[in-house]
Amino acid sequence: MAYETIIVEIEDYVAVVRLNRPDALNALNAKLLGELADALGTLDANDKVRCIVLTGSEKAFAAGADIKEMSEKSFVEMYMQDFFTPETEALLRVRKPVVAAVAGYALGGGCELAMMCDFIICAENAKFGQPEINLGVVAGIGGTQRLTRFVGKSKAMDMHLTGRFMDAAEAERSGLVSRVVPLKDLMKETMAAARKIAEKSQIAVMVVKESVNRSYETTLREGILFERRVFHSLFATEDQKEGMAAFMEKRTAQFRDK
Ligand code: CAA
Repeated sequence: MAYETIIVEIEDYVAVVRLNRPDALNALNAKLLGELADALGTLDANDKVRCIVLTGSEKAFAAGADIKEMSEKSFVEMYMQDFFTPETEALLRVRKPVVAAVAGYALGGGCELAMMCDFIICAENAKFGQPEINLGVVAGIGGTQRLTRFVGKSKAMDMHLTGRFMDAAEAERSGLVSRVVPLKDLMKETMAAARKIAEKSQIAVMVVKESVNRSYETTLREGILFERRVFHSLFATEDQKEGMAAFMEKRTAQFRDK
């Protein structure tokens, strides 16, 4: 796939999508988000892809929406274009797991993009923040809602109101990221996690993603009912029979996504 602002590589059933606007610290412009949406849709439909890793450079995952592109826009333009909604909805439609590997800055829309992934592994040099307040605006692609659910009201208010950055240790402590690893190991660790996911039954993997995401969309009671029903339904799959038989026969399961 030939893109100008992202690089896509597929290896061992894992696709790595690298944001690639080094001169702008991977700031998210319309071109990049359009290409990202297109790539993710294509990878979601590709049988050779079972897990997707989204990453940036060692200096920046993404330093936010592109301020230079955005600065002269009017309310009418922002509203009529429904600024970044179609592109970000495309990311949220991906049914395969998307893991964010974050090094350096994940600010504004960059932090929001990482939070739209299924989980975040970050390097020790990662810095998360929602500094839109310094520009006289607020987060625009989910940051006030998602950060609050990740880290709670007090810390989310602190981040959005002061615009301060959170380092990797604080991000792990507050539940924003699942793991912190040395910068040199970021891709190795993330690829190992992605390959592990790629080995599982893809049906069960997609059901996990749907079920965990459901916890953000509904009440606890409804979420638990949803989980119970999809759990029951997995007993209609060959992968469930194979997974449990393999356990009892003390061998590795061979999942066939059936
Ligand atoms: N948009 C456009 N360009 C950006 C950018 C952004 N968000 N962030 C960095 N750049 C550009 C800089 O303008 C600079 O380009 P030039 O060399 O052409 O001047 C280049 O990337 C390197 O940046 P710096 O020289 O500033 O690098 P630094 O190491 O001194 O600082 C930084 C790094 C702290 C991340 C700083 O660049 C910064 O504060 N960037 C803006 C962060 C921000 O405010 N993000 C929120 C954007 S709004 C948003 O995201 C809204 C939303 O929710 C949708």
